[in-house]
Amino acid sequence: MNIKEATKKTITFLVDVLGLIWALALALSTHYGMPADGFAGLFMQYRLPIIAYLGINIFTLLLVRCYDELIRDYSLFSTIKLFGALAISHLLFALFMSVIGDTQPSLLILNLTVYAAAALGVYRLIVLVAFQALLHLPKANRSGHAKRAIIFGAGSAGKYLVDMLNQDPSKQLKPVAFIDDDPRLERKRIKGLLVVGPRMLIPYAAKKYNAEVIIIAIPFVDNSTIREIFNLCNEANCTVKRFGNMSNLKFEGLAKSTINEIRVEDLLQRDVVRLDLESVSELVKGKTVLVTGGAGSIGSELCRQIMDYKPRLLVILDFNENGLFDITMELRKNYYEGAFETCLANIRERDVMNEVFQKYRPDIVFHAAAHKHVPMMEGNLREALINNVVGTNNVVEASIACGVERFMLISTDKAVNPTNIMGATKRIAELLIQQKNRSGDTRFAAVRFGNVLGSHSSVIPILQRQLQAGGPLTVTHKDVTRYFMTIPEAVQLVLESASIMQGGEIFVLDMGEPIRIYDLATTMIKLAGLVPEKDIKIEVTGLRPGEKLHEELCLPEETVVTTSNNKIYVMRPEISETDMESGALLAELLDSIRGKDQARIRELVQRLVPSLQDRKIC
Ligand SMILES: NC(=O)c1ccc[n+]([C@@H]2O[C@H](COP(=O)([O-])OP(=O)(O)OC[C@H]3O[C@@H](n4cnc5c(N)ncnc54)[C@H](O)[C@@H]3O)[C@@H](O)[C@H]2O)c1
Repeated sequence: MNIKEATKKTITFLVDVLGLIWALALALSTHYGMPADGFAGLFMQYRLPIIAYLGINIFTLLLVRCYDELIRDYSLFSTIKLFGALAISHLLFALFMSVIGDTQPSLLILNLTVYAAAALGVYRLIVLVAFQALLHLPKANRSGHAKRAIIFGAGSAGKYLVDMLNQDPSKQLKPVAFIDDDPRLERKRIKGLLVVGPRMLIPYAAKKYNAEVIIIAIPFVDNSTIREIFNLCNEANCTVKRFGNMSNLKFEGLAKSTINEIRVEDLLQRDVVRLDLESVSELVKGKTVLVTGGAGSIGSELCRQIMDYKPRLLVILDFNENGLFDITMELRKNYYEGAFETCLANIRERDVMNEVFQKYRPDIVFHAAAHKHVPMMEGNLREALINNVVGTNNVVEASIACGVERFMLISTDKAVNPTNIMGATKRIAELLIQQKNRSGDTRFAAVRFGNVLGSHSSVIPILQRQLQAGGPLTVTHKDVTRYFMTIPEAVQLVLESASIMQGGEIFVLDMGEPIRIYDLATTMIKLAGLVPEKDIKIEVTGLRPGEKLHEELCLPEETVVTTSNNKIYVMRPEISETDMESGALLAELLDSIRGKDQARIRELVQRLVPSLQDRKIC
């Protein structure tokens, strides 16, 4: 208990004693009449009953712990405790009066009980009303402009946070209560603040304490808890913040922790996957690994994670000079420089790819270099094909020529029944690696997944920029949905897929439930403390050419097989006549692209990707 709290409780106790004296004086004077020398005479005459009355009352009030909570935290239970204690002590006093021989104590006791209950009750009522009135004063009139904050989690992080906020007014946050799911802490006072109860009491506590902010102070909080608290805070019209952050699953320690905004990614991402470290370590340790598109969002994360498994050499290949520079600078900070090398090269150049592969002779290849923007690829069929199909073919041929053990193509859910050019080129790349799997020693596989959070020019950064500019936020259709996953999670699963591949598989990552982009936009506005459609508008712009309402993760003809990891599935298409035909079509497509025969290119693309047959390709 801190000094402020102890002082408040002592004042309540003293006011109660005064109230009891007042009740007694009033009851005695009305019952027996006021003596000529006034109250002094009254107290002298009835000193024994007065001492007994005060003694019995104080003893009972303390015994039932009526001063354990502050008046502002009173609950129904506290009220029952108070009036129960008064009832018991007045019964005991009646017993005392009859023992000392008072002939008619019942009326006196009745009056006394009413006066005492009124005195103690009215005092508490006045304090409660004054407290509530103070709480609901306009913010500017309250002392300072600090926002009232409820701390979720009364453990060491929560206690540390309360001290931090109390000592640092510049944070502009005033802790007012705790919420904690531990039933043992309920209604206890910690650091002077009441633990109101479990998380479902957030709306009640926010209203009672007029709180504007809820701060989650649990270092290893899971994402489903963050989502639940966010929903409860919406109900309570509060914003949510988080104390402390986890980077690379390591808690940085209380002293380094800061108060952070909750990002939409925190609400979307699922709980961290457990990786089969041993199988990935076996795959990578001591090997030469080459990552194409290593400067991109997925490629660079592949490089980070691969470095943790101690490859003999990591070759980071990309044609983006600045991106290559950035990833090298980053890796230099954490890893031995001799363990990785950059390779500034374009996958479209077959000879260059052959030279690179002969130079490094990689054991494992992750192929993430591609053009990925759906709308941009629409009017650029040949360009998309050169990069995503011819480029892939160059890397594939070079891999076979120098005996790469495993080749993993990074594919996308847009390759399933594609209705756009980008998706079609990725589907053709999938067909290509499945064909090549049958022709050499190299094992080829592809891994498909949906949108990753925070990749270059993806939906969240775009909506974020629109939000910062004051809106409107644009979505192409109210019902459009997409799958989401974090880049580190996707890459962990890509590595694990590579460790279990036999050759010819298309791995599909479990992306959880698809998310409605309209809901995503609404959530982002709420996270910014604004009201959707009132403060920021959401504009529906209409589906773009080739854009689907919902993405799928597998084709109807593919058989879904589970793997040792419940977040990785494998699609095993049977070898069929159609596959043999697609091999010939692929070879012809590669020739036609080189020969720039546009009409034949369009025809071959439509034959290889039947879902494009009904649409005109430019
Ligand atoms: N971003 C997503 O949400 C997502 C989801 C699922 C699958 N994928 C797939 O993963 C792959 C990579 O996506 P990303 O988000 O990392 O894209 P990105 O644009 O961030 O990275 C791609 C990288 O490839 C490089 N590149 C492109 N063409 C090249 C060429 N001809 N030669 C050398 N380097 C070249 C680019 O410079 C870039 O650094 C794509 O095939 C994409 O379809 C992406």
